[in-house]
Amino acid sequence: MTETLSVPAKMPVRLRVNGQNRDLLIEPSASLLQVLREDLALTGTKEVCLLGSCGACTVLIDGKPALSCLVLAMACRGKAITTIEGLMEGGDLHPLQQAFIDKGAVQCGYCTPGMVMVGKALLDEKPNPTAEEARQAIAGNLCRCTGYQQIVEAIVAAPEIARTGSAKRPAGLMDSGPYLMPETGE
Ligand code: FES
Ligand code: FES
Repeated sequence: MTETLSVPAKMPVRLRVNGQNRDLLIEPSASLLQVLREDLALTGTKEVCLLGSCGACTVLIDGKPALSCLVLAMACRGKAITTIEGLMEGGDLHPLQQAFIDKGAVQCGYCTPGMVMVGKALLDEKPNPTAEEARQAIAGNLCRCTGYQQIVEAIVAAPEIARTGSAKRPAGLMDSGPYLMPETGE
């Protein structure tokens, strides 16, 4: 007698994503990352290592950063999920998103959604974070491009952008394309 492998049946689930209820049929083993990207077409959340090592898949669950590649979507019933797509307000970038652009903190962009989400969680907890607090917040997120400094600067600058709509250049640095370079005086 031969055994047949059965495909797990899909199950109905209601997820609250970016303030909207979404009714879906998903496999019980589907990760939140898989459901966000494949069922909801929210591809801002990035898929990189799928091992919980890189942070690119970070979203907020009930306001706390979570690695969506390690979380079962089914376990998110009744929770508020926020992705990078949920940060814009009325068509405007969130001040933190604007800060990433202003500070040259986006290069290839693969780490950016995860970095922004951990930065958002930090700013919600500490409205005026220090550079050290920003470094601690992004400690679990990898970036191959920026050297992290611009990302830290962006998180620290976001409150001022929220207040004034513009970023102030840190003392002693000058803009050089997407980078901030030490001023030479030439
Ligand atoms: S894709 Fe989830 S931690 Fe890397
Ligand atoms: S901007 Fe490329 S990995 Fe961070």
